[in-house]
Amino acid sequence: MPSELLSMKRKLQLSDRDRNFLWHPYTQMKTAPDPIPVERGEGVWLYTKEGRRLLDGTSSWWVNIHGHAHPKLNKALAAQARKLEHVMFAGVTHEPAVELAERLTSILPPGLNRIFYSDNGSTAVEAALKMAFQYWQNRGKRKRREFVALKHAYHGDTVGAMSVSESSVFTQAFRPLLFDVHRVYSPYCFQCPLGLERSSCGIDCLQGLRRLLETQHDSIAAVIVEPMLQGAGGMIVWPKEFLSGVRELCDRYDVLMIADEVLTGFGRTGRMFACEHAGISPDILCLSKALTAGYMPLAVTAATEQVYAAFLSDDRSKALFHGHSYTANPLGCAVALASLKLFEEEQTLKRVQRMEAQFQTRLNRLRDLPCVADVRGIGGVAVIELATGKGGYLDNIGPALAGEFLKRDLLLRPMGNILYFMPPYVITDSEVDWAFDQISEVLGNLGNG
Ligand SMILES: Cc1ncc(COP(=O)(O)O)c(C=O)c1O
Repeated sequence: MPSELLSMKRKLQLSDRDRNFLWHPYTQMKTAPDPIPVERGEGVWLYTKEGRRLLDGTSSWWVNIHGHAHPKLNKALAAQARKLEHVMFAGVTHEPAVELAERLTSILPPGLNRIFYSDNGSTAVEAALKMAFQYWQNRGKRKRREFVALKHAYHGDTVGAMSVSESSVFTQAFRPLLFDVHRVYSPYCFQCPLGLERSSCGIDCLQGLRRLLETQHDSIAAVIVEPMLQGAGGMIVWPKEFLSGVRELCDRYDVLMIADEVLTGFGRTGRMFACEHAGISPDILCLSKALTAGYMPLAVTAATEQVYAAFLSDDRSKALFHGHSYTANPLGCAVALASLKLFEEEQTLKRVQRMEAQFQTRLNRLRDLPCVADVRGIGGVAVIELATGKGGYLDNIGPALAGEFLKRDLLLRPMGNILYFMPPYVITDSEVDWAFDQISEVLGNLGNG
């Protein structure tokens, strides 16, 4: 590059250079404010080029758990990079992939003994849907081709994952590309679809799934759910009885159950996996996000031996024809293993459980603010549903609030009128208090007009 061009480039702000060449996800590039130039991270803090520090209140899109630039994770990643950065994963294997599969199968809900790697949450879901579909085809039950998904679901942005996600601004432009699914109620207790109260209901919202499976199980391949916490569809926290009810119905009608734990896996709900709240095992389980503690794109679709066995044949075409260039990336596997070690060394799950108690105390204090419709939480997730605005992802209250929090050095990204706080687990008690002080002041001002 000529030296004048180089020096001109240095003079331009990073955000200007970004504007010249980049296209950000979920972003209306015409009207969005300049992106924040983050230079480094440490623990729960992100540092900008100008030396400002911001508390990472979304765990960098729900991926970071042990904090940014953790010395032990850095070390594991560097050590692996010196040995083997990547190799194709068909006809080849490597120690980090095998060891991670051994570790995961020892901690996953019982029965999930087969690990299929991919590289992000959507592909983990995509692989799960294809696995479930082909499972029945390989077994000669060709009519079992349909999927059941829940209202308010979000499973990712690829075409299959969008199809099982609730119709929303995320999927609307692509509707003609998507396949039809059966859609049944989820237990959104605050806005109960049946107008009931949790204290007296009998999880009646399961009726929709029950009736569907009763009459149409012969054509259904699988039911897919986000156990205990539906994330992008509104941060909806479930009663665990709904989850056990789904498992029971899937068993009764011999339908596969897919648990999308892309968000909930690795302690986010206070248990290592959300399925543990109800003591159930799905037939297929999806993981990504915190799998590598926010370091590398890696995903897992775990299956039972029964699902796996349906793909074993002398006929090569019965194999699962799904894969990605970066399948089982050794760097990702190595850092995932180091992350799992940290769970033991740093007693991570205990920390999330303490965090949950502190979140509940602080959430309760917000409950009576005029702009607050509902507060709820689970594990390391605190949710405030606002009564203001029109609701939904495009509600302008979201960016307006994000701007207010940013002025206070708190990086949050409300989903419309759903404000949530989901920091890395290493946040200290006083940092939690500080963040809630900011939230309560900003929401208090909102109430004043
Ligand atoms: C439950 C769930 N599934 C799947 C995905 C998609 O993951 P990714 O963004 O890595 O494709 C997400 C992302 O938020 C998610 O929350």
